[in-house]
Amino acid sequence: MRIEKLKLKKNKSKIICLTAYSKNFAEEIDKYTDLILVGDSLGSVLYNFNSTRKVTLNMMIEHSKSVRMGITKSLMIVDMPYNTYKNKNEALKNCKKVMKETKCHGVKLEGGKKIKNIVQHLIKNNIPVLGHLGIMPQSVKGNFKSKGKSLKERKQLMNDSILLEKIGVFGIVLECVEKSLAKKITNKISIPTIGIGSSNSCDGQILVTDDILGLTQSKIKFVKRYIDLRVHIRKAIKQFKTEVKNKKYPSKKYSY
Ligand code: KIV
Repeated sequence: MRIEKLKLKKNKSKIICLTAYSKNFAEEIDKYTDLILVGDSLGSVLYNFNSTRKVTLNMMIEHSKSVRMGITKSLMIVDMPYNTYKNKNEALKNCKKVMKETKCHGVKLEGGKKIKNIVQHLIKNNIPVLGHLGIMPQSVKGNFKSKGKSLKERKQLMNDSILLEKIGVFGIVLECVEKSLAKKITNKISIPTIGIGSSNSCDGQILVTDDILGLTQSKIKFVKRYIDLRVHIRKAIKQFKTEVKNKKYPSKKYSY
């Protein structure tokens, strides 16, 4: 089974994860990743939404169908958007639709104890689930603050992680969890933790691809920009414009 790939935790080899929203990006990302997430971050990255809550199931399905065409080896996981897993039956109906239409390997849901029954029901019905704890963008109102500073928060995060492992999720994304707690959780549970802003103690890392390529203006502390792709895009487009204006393009080589 493909999900077995995430047993990388046992090999102590870091798990490489990135987001993708379309085929061309997925094709390149897939060469280097273990897991590709069609994240509901596409709401802010592609549609300028101020919250992931506005992302619909259909948006996720259409982008995922495109991503699917670009993946040959990575696990493909699809974010279930806000309001699509309010109760057990709705969650199962929507997850089945996503799995069937996108041919993904599993889904990601935000939450711990509060969605225990829903996650249990999905897993019982053979839907592989990736958990998501720490900052959960679908529930955040106002500023994004890191998690695990207070004792109460630390206990809750640890308990939620243990609970998610117990009910059978295959991994947990930890978003903006304080370093020492991320390490404690990673050491405590046997399934992999995938960090985003949660230190290098996690078993793997995930980032939004558009952020690391410099396509977004993200100022988030944990985002490392590996290239400013916009500079290259601008250069190519400017050159196209110049060549068309100067009648250099299309030359003989590009004409019939
Ligand atoms: O929506 C998303 O892209 C995510 C992340 C973990 C990157 O949930």
